[in-house]
Amino acid sequence: MVLVGLGARGRYWAQVMHAESACEVVAYVDPSADAVASACTTFGERPTFASLEEALATFDDLDALVLATPPSGREAQLRCAAERKLPVLVEKPLALDLAEAARYVTLMEEAGVPLMVGLNFRYLAVTMERMRLYRENAVGSPEFTRFTYERWRDGYRPGINRYPLTMEHPMLWEQSIHHFDLLRYVYESEPVQVACRAWNPSWSMYAHETNVSALFTFESGMSATYQGLWQSGWVTPGFEWRTDCTEGVVTQFDQFGELAYARREQAELTDVPLPAHEIWVTETAGLLRAFVRTVQEGAPLECSGRDHLGSLAMVQACIEASRDERVVHVADVLAAVPGGHLP
Ligand SMILES: NC(=O)c1ccc[n+]([C@@H]2O[C@H](COP(=O)([O-])OP(=O)(O)OC[C@H]3O[C@@H](n4cnc5c(N)ncnc54)[C@H](O)[C@@H]3O)[C@@H](O)[C@H]2O)c1
Repeated sequence: MVLVGLGARGRYWAQVMHAESACEVVAYVDPSADAVASACTTFGERPTFASLEEALATFDDLDALVLATPPSGREAQLRCAAERKLPVLVEKPLALDLAEAARYVTLMEEAGVPLMVGLNFRYLAVTMERMRLYRENAVGSPEFTRFTYERWRDGYRPGINRYPLTMEHPMLWEQSIHHFDLLRYVYESEPVQVACRAWNPSWSMYAHETNVSALFTFESGMSATYQGLWQSGWVTPGFEWRTDCTEGVVTQFDQFGELAYARREQAELTDVPLPAHEIWVTETAGLLRAFVRTVQEGAPLECSGRDHLGSLAMVQACIEASRDERVVHVADVLAAVPGGHLP
């Protein structure tokens, strides 16, 4: 495989890909000389290229690509992959526009090439255990949820990406996309409508809205109250994802773990034991193994680009709901886009 993009996220990909025995990284691609040099020093020498086109001109026996580049400007890379029939694992969000994402999905489908999106939070033990609690009916069936993710994200911190400082709706496209995907995935239901306000607090260092408050309803009847902040008023982060069910609650106090539940009459929560976990690594390895199963064995594609359109539509619906101060139906947002249907 070729790893394209060696920034903050690409470095984790390099670590995870090198540790996976079923996977061999044959080259690094990044226009930044520092980025490729640092990858060679840390993870071992490989041929390096400034563009994917150059790498593809050198190798004719590749099996797949991992794209860890920023979400704008992926068209040329995906066109190369489609022409060469190369499966792609691309970082979320697939694009910063639903119509553009739908074009990419159609392009890859017409080429008959798997397109998987990097939704690593699905592969966390805490996510799987949460789903097991629902499946085994530990506290009945979910009826409503409150998802709060509160962070004062220093956009100038060394080692993190810079483009969110100037892009539109950085919270929604970059961060909430994970949360919205989890809501669809865990509750196994598609969203129906959303009311939303997205805003930038007076102290924000970002050019566009970092804070989002939304109320979703789902086909199953679930409702989700969502608060996602990249510019909270406090440097200490907060996280809680609590779901109220017919016979109790399931709640999670950290985005990577700390899961607990209680039946309605129980005053105390019961912790759910979780395996040891290296954040950004263990769950990314799970995502990579799923991709490798598809590429090597033809296993059904997980986190498909087509499925991802459902989560991107939630982002776009939030943007429209906030801008127009109205409730937006997610199906209308999808229907407005050519090729914008779900699997
Ligand atoms: N799944 C996750 O948990 C997670 C976490 C962080 C970031 N991400 C995603 O990963 C992607 C990259 O984010 P990042 O934080 O690494 O950004 P970054 O800005 O730190 O790094 C991007 C790298 O891509 C390189 N690049 C830009 N254009 C390129 C091109 N055409 N070809 C090759 N390389 C190119 C840049 O030189 C840079 O080194 C984004 O889509 C982001 O949303 C995902």
